[in-house]
Amino acid sequence: MTASGSDLVAVLGGGGREHALVWRLLQDGRRVVALPGSDAIPGSVPVDLESDAEVLTELRRLAPSLVVIGPEAPLERGLADTLRAEGFAVLGPGKAGARLESSKAFAKDFMVRHGVATARHETVTGLEAALAALAHFPGGVVVKYDGLAAGKGVIVCADRAEAEAAVRELATRHGDGATLLLEERLVGREVSLLALTDGRDVALFPPAQDHKRLGDGDTGPNTGGMGAYCPVPFCNAAVLAEIDAQIVEPTLRGLAQDGIAFRGILYFGVMVTAAGPRLLEYNTRFGDPEAQAVLPQVKGDLAQLFLATARGELGASRVESHAGYTVAVVSAAAGYPGTPMKGTPIEGLDVADALVFHAGTRRAPGGTGFVTAGGRVLSVVARGDTFRAARARAYAAADQVRFDGMQRRSDVGKQAEPKRIAILFSGRGSNMEAILASIREGELQGFAEPVLAVTDKPDAKGIEVAKRFDVPVATQPSKGIPRADYDATLAGLLQTSRVDYVVLAGFMRILSPVMVRAFPRRILNVHPADTRAHQGLHGYAWAFEAKLPETWVTIHWVDEGLDTGPVIHRARVDLTGATTLEEVERRGLAVEHREYALALKNLILEQA
Ligand code: AMP
Ligand code: GLY
Repeated sequence: MTASGSDLVAVLGGGGREHALVWRLLQDGRRVVALPGSDAIPGSVPVDLESDAEVLTELRRLAPSLVVIGPEAPLERGLADTLRAEGFAVLGPGKAGARLESSKAFAKDFMVRHGVATARHETVTGLEAALAALAHFPGGVVVKYDGLAAGKGVIVCADRAEAEAAVRELATRHGDGATLLLEERLVGREVSLLALTDGRDVALFPPAQDHKRLGDGDTGPNTGGMGAYCPVPFCNAAVLAEIDAQIVEPTLRGLAQDGIAFRGILYFGVMVTAAGPRLLEYNTRFGDPEAQAVLPQVKGDLAQLFLATARGELGASRVESHAGYTVAVVSAAAGYPGTPMKGTPIEGLDVADALVFHAGTRRAPGGTGFVTAGGRVLSVVARGDTFRAARARAYAAADQVRFDGMQRRSDVGKQAEPKRIAILFSGRGSNMEAILASIREGELQGFAEPVLAVTDKPDAKGIEVAKRFDVPVATQPSKGIPRADYDATLAGLLQTSRVDYVVLAGFMRILSPVMVRAFPRRILNVHPADTRAHQGLHGYAWAFEAKLPETWVTIHWVDEGLDTGPVIHRARVDLTGATTLEEVERRGLAVEHREYALALKNLILEQA
């Protein structure tokens, strides 16, 4: 691996993340040891990871050509600095870089100074100041303790009463003089974006999503993570480009400006919101269980990439990924996230078709087999060509692993499923075309999937459009059918197709209560005017004849009236210099086509 050194890689740590790291580095044909590792991790060398001196002695003896530091605690202590001073190539930042994770206040200050997109915040010290500052966050607040708190220092509050309770709880737990961070509560979807960086260049891993709550549907207490999947379908090229421009690049510039040498893993915990991506947190190591889902997706010689990063020679190297998906399902012990039950025998560990990464297990005393020894006991990980296949395989394998009191989520990866939309049209379907194009390769990619197109006109030109995008078309002529009956049939059809959103794209019918009630706040329409100024047909002719310098496009929920539903989004159409109706229409339609897809994406984010 190196001209001078061995091909030995030492991984520090002994949890599920480190098990996955060891497994992945073995795939690259390297010899790997884990310090201290665990009973389940091959090549484990017992050592007290809390003692830098002991670790150093052991590493001197082993003389690895690369040291990968898994957990945050040794990074925060500055173990990477110590090892570098001894001449080791280390994947992991020094103490200065590790502060991005270990101090939330430092991280937040860094983000603000360097223009990294993040949630609005205030840092407060002491109970009284914290309580007073809550008034500055009328739209909801998240209270965070400044320091490593093993995932338990963050309280997302639903209302003012909860916020006050959270402030009191954290102030009591950490002392009345504790520094707390108050942050505006964001709505959107979370993504864990992990990157290799040597402080100059950066190579992104495919995005992953963690499942932090204990229970299905994101209910119950927070945990270290109950499962993960990779890649994340909605984290499409447009979303990634925004994250890169607003978060990753400014971070890299900031590190350089602040003179922080960083050679390791930078983990961006991002909330994708309707207003763009916002950084919630940095971690300065692989996530757990993200690593278990991300590492099996990585193709090629990862050990070589690690080494290049450790040496500051990342350059233009990129992380290559396999096609398909990986799903990691965590099984936790009874009692977790409180006091976990230890010593429970685990059965069915040699699963076929999947990987098992151990986190909290140890060898049964005197026996073969394993027993539980921690909160998150293990994760079962599987790959598949499709998301569905990966999930099915992971759960089939996870079902074989059993221990008393096992806790597991049954919905890992469910959030990856795109929303199912139906498009209704009567004419040429130009808005349908724009939305389908956006789903295929634009902003809506991974957010939505078209399951059905419905038209009331058997000769509508839009039928060809839907076919071109391989969307099944249902033709439902309306002639002679009473409105309520027609809508009942339509609603039944859409319900059978398990549609999440109904998108009207030039559907020339006013919906009856039957439809509206079947899909409350689920039917959208686009209107070629400001709905307050002009309802009904011919919005562009109206704007043209009135010689307006600008007009508006409205995207709104459909109710039982004519263009009276609640407005979702309004976008301006500049009409200066537009001297013909055709020109007015051309400009208006361009705005409709862009904004309709955007509004749908933002809706999906906000109703996440
Ligand atoms: P953190 O340790 O800062 O990443 O926070 C842990 C979790 O709390 C995150 O993964 C989010 O689910 C949630 N969270 C943190 N900050 C916010 C915020 N500003 N708005 C909404 N949720 C948040
Ligand atoms: N899974 C989140 C973390 O490792 O911090």
